[in-house]
Amino acid sequence: MEFTISTKSPESCACDALVLGVFADRAPLEGAASKVDRALGGLLSSVLAEEHFKGKPGHTFVLHTHGKVPAKRIIVAGLGPKADVHLEQLRMAAAAGVRRAADARAKHVVFPAVSLPPHRADAVTQARVEGIVLGSYRFSRYKPQDDAAAVERVELLAGDASHQKDVEEGLRRGLLFAEATTYARDLVNEPPNQMNPLLLAELAEEAARTAGLRCSVLDVDAMRAQGMGAILSIGGGSAVPPRLIVLEYAPSKPKRTVAIVGKGVTFDSGGINLKTSSLEWMKSDMAGGAAVIATMQALPALKSPARVLGVVAAVENLPSGTSVKPGDIVRAMNGKTIEINNTDAEGRVVLADALAYAAQRNPDEIIDLATLTGSAMIALGYLAAAVMSNNQRLVDRLIDAADRAGERMWQLPLYEEYLEKMRSPVADLQNSGGRYGGAQKGAAFLREFVDGKPWAHIDIAPTAFLETDEGTGPYLHKGGTGYGVRTLLTYLSGA
Ligand code: BES
Ligand code: MN
Ligand code: ZN
Repeated sequence: MEFTISTKSPESCACDALVLGVFADRAPLEGAASKVDRALGGLLSSVLAEEHFKGKPGHTFVLHTHGKVPAKRIIVAGLGPKADVHLEQLRMAAAAGVRRAADARAKHVVFPAVSLPPHRADAVTQARVEGIVLGSYRFSRYKPQDDAAAVERVELLAGDASHQKDVEEGLRRGLLFAEATTYARDLVNEPPNQMNPLLLAELAEEAARTAGLRCSVLDVDAMRAQGMGAILSIGGGSAVPPRLIVLEYAPSKPKRTVAIVGKGVTFDSGGINLKTSSLEWMKSDMAGGAAVIATMQALPALKSPARVLGVVAAVENLPSGTSVKPGDIVRAMNGKTIEINNTDAEGRVVLADALAYAAQRNPDEIIDLATLTGSAMIALGYLAAAVMSNNQRLVDRLIDAADRAGERMWQLPLYEEYLEKMRSPVADLQNSGGRYGGAQKGAAFLREFVDGKPWAHIDIAPTAFLETDEGTGPYLHKGGTGYGVRTLLTYLSGA
């Protein structure tokens, strides 16, 4: 898909489809829609009224122009009530519009300028480009799709020529954010017979080379030398050994260092505590790691002011004669002992070493992303990730970044008492503390490995992977969502 920017006017633009946003509640047409309506002698507004088009978010409507304007067809995309329209509604309408255009076999699609004060043209353009690219995403590696239904050229109209620079910058950032997100989606959607710890590490090395990042990968011997008994214990059941992936981005005069840490369980069978359901979705258990790698490789182009350390614990959780067993006691890199009382609570165990490793590098703050608990999914459905932290200022800034990125994040409390349930009679900690408050207990466990540093844990189990149509939308499809990449990039572009 190729993007261009021009200053043509929408009613004189030749193309296969012209996408127009329309507010709900039969509000009078505004902006480009009203210009096009006038050029059509009022046909657009009267047909919309006759067809009872309500302008609901995500809804679309197609009008063939039969030569009355140079655009072959008009695609109207609902924006919802005017008072509720923010960047997210533009993102969704752009996605719905481009998907409708693709269904109509349109090749050249035009998006007229939209004004949404107080947002500037760069933010508006970024959101719409994200919607267009993410809405068009397909995981087609093992089932090539029919190219007939792919939009080839997207033309963005800048409106006022004075906005050209802002539109260019918005296009650049929109592509950066969306392509990093689709990269994370691809990593998650890759089947688990391919995506194992070794492939994830190789792909991280390749991405680092292309982007110009430092990358080092710790193998089993290196992890043993560092005392990483936690990740090694979980990795012990698989024929494919675990890896600790470390990526580094360093601008010339960094103000501070942020560590981002991801759970990279490439397949979570539960181990000896073998899962009885949902196994077919458990290739998604490396989504936190995918978000970290995808974010890291975008940082040089983002020109983040912060130094960023990316750490991914890549491991496969399988049952075998060499697996970790319930009752085993292992020692993490920071010296703490962990009784493994449930091998299916493996995420916190591998993160114990990854967080301790990140903390030892002395960052100013640590953010981890992990598909950690079914409990967070029970609480929030597919609609929001859960965030828990030892530092309220950090959570506030993360939630603000998530809001701006169009990714929902909801804070859960981290009361001291949760930790009591994670103490073991025979070790410093146990890895499972019972059903209730499971997301918070998992977070309380993780906090023991960050050495008191400001830290936030984002449990992305709810949002990382959509198993059915529930939770899908114009730019979110079944499968990996790439959740977290846009939030981290938003956060790190100001951090
Ligand atoms: N990877 C799972 C959590 C998960 C479940 C992610 C469903 C996505 C969808 C995690 O390793 C797990 O099994 N967690 C257990 C923890 C429990 C044994 C303490 C859970 O949430 O049930
Ligand atoms: Mn598990
Ligand atoms: Zn898991």
